[in-house]
Amino acid sequence: MNKPEGLESTTHLLLMPPQEGVLLVQLNRPEARNALTTELLIQLAEVLDQASLNEEISAVVITGGEKVFAAGADLKQMASLDMVGVLNDTRPAIWQKIACFPKPLIAAVNGFALGGGCELAMHADIIIAGDNAKFGQPEINLAIIPGAGGTQRLIRTVGKSLAMKMVLSGEFISAEEARQSGLVAEVTSPEDSVSRAIDLARVIAAKSPLAIQQAKDVLLNAFETHLDVGLQYERKAFTVLAATEDRNEGINAFLEKRKPDFKGR
Ligand code: CAA
Repeated sequence: MNKPEGLESTTHLLLMPPQEGVLLVQLNRPEARNALTTELLIQLAEVLDQASLNEEISAVVITGGEKVFAAGADLKQMASLDMVGVLNDTRPAIWQKIACFPKPLIAAVNGFALGGGCELAMHADIIIAGDNAKFGQPEINLAIIPGAGGTQRLIRTVGKSLAMKMVLSGEFISAEEARQSGLVAEVTSPEDSVSRAIDLARVIAAKSPLAIQQAKDVLLNAFETHLDVGLQYERKAFTVLAATEDRNEGINAFLEKRKPDFKGR
């Protein structure tokens, strides 16, 4: 299959042609351990923006290298920013775009996911980790703190005690500890993490895109709201889906003992 228009590899990202609705994006700055420059983040946000508009793409897998997923914010770039530079930094707005990607985003993490690298993995909806993965927020060693959601997403995902330990000590956790704490969904061998993430993305890509979109939105909304409001939000989305052709197709296919043919409407 050809690459859909607008979806080409960039200076810092390798894109594999989408197959079965899944786009694979690989961070590609190995010489700097995939440190996240502003340019890289802009490129990633643009690729996700294109992917969100492209009907051939139902899910995206993001990965890094074999030994380093991403080493965090680019410290050479960060060193040049004073307080006014940080105040005027465009990166929070770029991260916000990445966070708003409406389709499923799966991270396949091998090796180090540190600082902004761990934060990028946490922007994914699901993390599959190779058993060599190490997750950490080592910013404290630089006399700074996480600045791309690391404190907020980590504490909501792994709980207070482990988040405090990671952010205050800078100590890393292993793939298995990350799985036990809920940061990671599955641990595989390092060789298998990307293929497992792609297989999972394909399973998701075969569902009704409308139901997937609503499920992701409602699940993420749980981080933002009280239980009663979240339950109402869930019920509204459930109700909206009752008006879709896909919902009728899904239920009828089950009752008629056949495979559903979802059209995304
Ligand atoms: N920024 C810029 N360059 C980086 C980098 C980073 N975060 N991490 C590594 N590099 C560069 C190194 O400077 C080095 O460059 P040179 O060859 O020009 O000297 C090259 O990548 C190789 O680095 P190492 O020799 O350290 O590679 P390694 O394989 O031995 O170790 C590593 C890999 C464990 C990831 C180690 O590089 C490391 O600890 N990196 C820094 C991790 C870190 O502190 N991250 C937090 C950044 S702050 C942040 O992310 C804030 C935020 O919340 C957004």
